[in-house]
Amino acid sequence: MNCIDLIRKKRDAYKLSKEEIRYLISEYSKGNIPDYQFSAFLMAVYFQGMDFQETTNLMQAMMDSGKSLDLSNIKKPKIDKHSTGGVGDKVSLILAPLMASCGICVPMISGRGLGHTGGTLDKLESIPGFKTNLSIKQFKCQLKKIGVAMIGQTIEIAPADKKMYALRDVTATVDSIPLISASIMSKKLAEDLDGLVLDIKLGNGAFIKDYKKAKELAQTMIQISKRSSVKVITILTDMNNPLGNYTGNSLEIIETIEALKGRGPEDLMEITFALAKAMLKLAKIKGGKKLLEKKIASGGALNKFKEIIHYQGGDVRVIEDYSRLPVARNRIKVKAQKTGYINHINTFDIGMLLVQLGGGRFKKEEKIDPSCGFRIYKKIGDYVKKGECLVKIFCDNRSKTRSVVKQMHDVFTIKTKFCRRKTLIREILH
Ligand code: URA
Repeated sequence: MNCIDLIRKKRDAYKLSKEEIRYLISEYSKGNIPDYQFSAFLMAVYFQGMDFQETTNLMQAMMDSGKSLDLSNIKKPKIDKHSTGGVGDKVSLILAPLMASCGICVPMISGRGLGHTGGTLDKLESIPGFKTNLSIKQFKCQLKKIGVAMIGQTIEIAPADKKMYALRDVTATVDSIPLISASIMSKKLAEDLDGLVLDIKLGNGAFIKDYKKAKELAQTMIQISKRSSVKVITILTDMNNPLGNYTGNSLEIIETIEALKGRGPEDLMEITFALAKAMLKLAKIKGGKKLLEKKIASGGALNKFKEIIHYQGGDVRVIEDYSRLPVARNRIKVKAQKTGYINHINTFDIGMLLVQLGGGRFKKEEKIDPSCGFRIYKKIGDYVKKGECLVKIFCDNRSKTRSVVKQMHDVFTIKTKFCRRKTLIREILH
């Protein structure tokens, strides 16, 4: 087999066999296919797509590039959640301790920021000392002890995805249904789970913008899961507004802690509870929303978060003292230039403006600045008076801040006519 022939075959819209896909993934993983050739392959898949059989074969080859976890010594139901990525999406940070406090084992393997979307790992690492690079042995040991651990992809689990994910990020090949499906399912099916809840974001702040494609993505992942023993529930959720009131790594940690203290914003809690209820259902644990509210009111969920921070080497004092988190001191308000209703928010641009401030990456090796971010005051449908604050920018780099202030005005469209916000939970499929 040769890589050029296979790229040409996909470019010309032919189907690839199982062996051909395996060859590409295994040779790329071993470093025998250079990034420039693999980028061409990814772009060919982006434009020509893959049918379900090819997508499943791609997922399997990526999964087989590493090992599978064996969590059979843990008797609790093992359920994870994964999101396709959004702006201000800190749900995993709230959900993992909340679910563990309900008796579910949550072996969470998360990602870093990708394009305009934030990453759970980057957020966690804004807690001083917090380590996300645990070995599989440490990961399993923590799961046994406290029922939850939050780590990054290791070289053991689906290493092909780790390499491909980074390449897709810088070659504009993220928003492809076969590539997203294979990426997510190759990691998740290797986690030895009983169940998985997928938050499929749609809207202008998501990789997949329209409902039809989001549904197709959900159905592809459900079909893949049907060939395994992992039960999957997918929830299509709206991403036409940033989620919650803050974006930016350490600011989102503060918002997470506030949510675990019972003071989370409505939109963030609605999505968190919808995903949490699906996880309880998969775990066959009764109690629904009442149980979740009880775990937050009693401090059980917050305590679990404290345990996660403690076990992963972080400074637990951040729970009570937010000044221990790196938060930029320089704050600038962006004010509305006219009176009216917020008609549209370019959520994708908010994500990219955070990258511009330094809160995300343009290149895969870049270091991020955890202290910068935005406080968002207005969402679609809100009334705003001229001169009222739309966004507060947190950033100690003044020249970056000045450039972002100018662009932030264009993110909000204000009109005299009222515009209704879309429902957050669009559809649940399983
Ligand atoms: N999340 C993933 O894990 N993979 C993708 O391709 C997109 C979002």
